Amino acid sequence: MHYLITGGSGFIGTHLTRRLTEAGHEVTVLDDLSAGYDWEHLSPTGAHLVRGSVLDRFTVERSIDDVDWVIHLAAVVGVQRAMQNRIRTLRVCHQGTQNVLSAATARHRRVFVASSSAIYGKITNTPVAEDNDVLLGSPQKDGWLYSTAKMCQEHLALAYHHERGARVWIGRLFNVIGPLQSGTGGMVVPRLVTQALDDLPLTVYGDGKQTRTFVYIDDALDGIQRVTGRGEQATPYNIGGTCEISILDLARMIRRIAGSSSPIRLIPYREVLGEDFEETQKRRPSIDRLCQLGYAPRYSLEESLRAIIDHHRRDPE
Ligand SMILES: NC(=O)c1ccc[n+]([C@@H]2O[C@H](COP(=O)([O-])OP(=O)(O)OC[C@H]3O[C@@H](n4cnc5c(N)ncnc54)[C@H](O)[C@@H]3O)[C@@H](O)[C@H]2O)c1
Repeated sequence: MHYLITGGSGFIGTHLTRRLTEAGHEVTVLDDLSAGYDWEHLSPTGAHLVRGSVLDRFTVERSIDDVDWVIHLAAVVGVQRAMQNRIRTLRVCHQGTQNVLSAATARHRRVFVASSSAIYGKITNTPVAEDNDVLLGSPQKDGWLYSTAKMCQEHLALAYHHERGARVWIGRLFNVIGPLQSGTGGMVVPRLVTQALDDLPLTVYGDGKQTRTFVYIDDALDGIQRVTGRGEQATPYNIGGTCEISILDLARMIRRIAGSSSPIRLIPYREVLGEDFEETQKRRPSIDRLCQLGYAPRYSLEESLRAIIDHHRRDPE
């Protein structure tokens, strides 16, 4: 099978490229390298890099010509990076996804669209199931632009499916963590791990009581492969873990596993993300729909953090 992975040099794309090439598949990566990930991680895999943007329709069309599947991961990811690149965040999700869907539909190619738990906005029911209503915050408040962009991306995928017969599969990823993830976009685990290993204060935003449910990269890749292998078309699947934890407890856990003596410092949101920042207070997926495809996450949070910390020790950024 020949896969095109847009955004394939990023965190999830790197791991997926490795997994697919190790299984004997051919992989082409279309990435503009804007997130700063190093292609050198992937050159030993034999994957082919097309350095370009999903915003360039002709590059997208040419890249899709020879493939069986498109795994569409390209996006401006991370709350902080999205706030610093608002127009690009919206354009890559909207125009970039439209380019991918349009080219893939014309060639009858299958497309997996990487959506996000962010689309649930600030609803607090946990676990949150795919058919739940969503509650996106006001555009006047920072923090909801990425959610809205990813929501729009899902609508586009469904619209192309219903009106143009696009072959689309949708996975809503929930807080994926693992080695090689960069903290530069605002991701919490790489930031806290780096701080703990450098014996710097662990910075926790707000009161730290906000919760997240992290999933290890290997489990997330299993989820993507379950959806693309046996999932229903045009049906969103939550892809996530099971252990909900507050960010304050996460910081304590990272500090313990890293053997660090760093203090934990609570920082008001306004100091890092501005006066108007809002984020969801609770997030845990219902994974029942994905489990019906045979999904069963294998890595506990403790094991995941140990693997990440070991990797950072061996290969500090
Ligand atoms: N990591 C998570 O926890 C998580 C959670 C929910 C959803 N997702 C989704 O999964 C996908 C991958 O996320 P990730 O964590 O690997 O992010 P990442 O930032 O590591 O990777 C995204 C990649 O897209 C590339 N990119 C950005 N704009 C591009 C453009 N215009 N053209 C081509 N490439 C472009 C970047 O250079 C980067 O390599 C994204 O769509 C993201 O929204 C991730």
